[in-house]
Amino acid sequence: MLQEVRGTKDILPNSIASWQYLEENIRIVTNRFGYKELRTPIFENTEVFSRSIGDNTDIVNKEMYTFEDRGGNSLTLRPEMTAALVRSVIQNGLTAQGAIARLWYFGPFFRYERPQKGRYRQFHQFGAECLSSPYPESDVETILLACGLTKQLGIKNFKLQLNSLGNKISRQNFQDDLVKFLNSKKMILSDESKFRLEKNPLRVLDSKDQRDIDATLEAPSILEFLDEESSLHFGTVKLLLNQVGIDYVINPRLVRGLDYYSHTVFEFQSSALGSQDAFGGGGRYNDLFEQLGGKATPAVGFAMGVERLLLILEASKLLPENEAGVDAYIITFDSNNNGLVLSLSDKLRNAGFSVKTDISRKSFKSQMKDANNSNAKFAIILGDNEIERNVVQVKNMQSGEQKEVNIENILKFMEI
Ligand code: HAM
Repeated sequence: MLQEVRGTKDILPNSIASWQYLEENIRIVTNRFGYKELRTPIFENTEVFSRSIGDNTDIVNKEMYTFEDRGGNSLTLRPEMTAALVRSVIQNGLTAQGAIARLWYFGPFFRYERPQKGRYRQFHQFGAECLSSPYPESDVETILLACGLTKQLGIKNFKLQLNSLGNKISRQNFQDDLVKFLNSKKMILSDESKFRLEKNPLRVLDSKDQRDIDATLEAPSILEFLDEESSLHFGTVKLLLNQVGIDYVINPRLVRGLDYYSHTVFEFQSSALGSQDAFGGGGRYNDLFEQLGGKATPAVGFAMGVERLLLILEASKLLPENEAGVDAYIITFDSNNNGLVLSLSDKLRNAGFSVKTDISRKSFKSQMKDANNSNAKFAIILGDNEIERNVVQVKNMQSGEQKEVNIENILKFMEI
């Protein structure tokens, strides 16, 4: 039997209600914040990602689905949205003359990671990006949006981790000091971290290997290297978060896995998730527009893992229980009446009702069972006797009450 590709998942009809519930709430919340949806292609020229995410990141080094098309172009299935979004914004002039752009997205992304609970090779993200404002107000607006969604969904048990990576100068000064420190501990670092020390030293702080955690206990903190501009930005972000009442934990080791960040970085973590506990992350990326050939444009945003959000909702019993049923199920004793059944169903659907009918020529009893399983509000019964008299029997499936209704009055009856 042919199987789905490892790390990918079919979203089956019995779980689609949860996805649609989440998508609906994302639309409600993004609308409240005045963000507009942007949809870009699933694949981009490889350069879009290699020039932005960073040559020495796991994503670019090990996880991209890159292939050559028949024309010899190197293309990549998008591993994340921020770079693709910036490419599109530059190309379409959405921030021309420094205009603010508030954008959100939802869709599939691809990373060749080791699959496990909450980690897939095709996964989905919802994200929002606020472009053109250098001010901390926009950092806080995007965090408020992310928290607005958790609130809307009823997710309470989570931690917001916050850090600043400062501007380029602060980061370089920190990195120089960190490399000195890490070199003094090189002997006890994991092999992965020894490699990272050469290529991308900040990421050593992100290691989950106990040897690295022990070795870096006394590592310098980025927060001690922030220059005046960086400190002022971070201080104001914290102040505004306090003013709007959003709890956070400062984590000077939070470095994130993509290289385009500067200043604020943050991550949302939930204990409902097990080892892959980050259900969202983001930060400011003031240099990305220039890296992709655009005009310098300050920007900040985040993305959340949709499968992880759904895992949290499921574990916390926050998903709606009952699937919406149909308004009516039309039943007949004799399949010779199916022409009438189909035209009545069409009339009801055109009036806005959801209607199911039997298309397997089942017995009356089985049709009644189907009506029940479809959560139908009403069963509309069309018997020979009824047809002759131009009436139908309408059974309220909840109360069991049955009424004879003239077929001309059926729409009116259904409306009440
Ligand atoms: P990221 O931290 O790489 O950031 O991904 C954001 C979220 O996507 C993660 O917190 C996680 O919930 C989910 N995620 C990532 N990889 C997987 C996977 N293999 N399987 C399931 N879920 C996954 C970004 O992608 C940045 N573009 C976020 C951003 C937007 N920064 C600024 N703006």
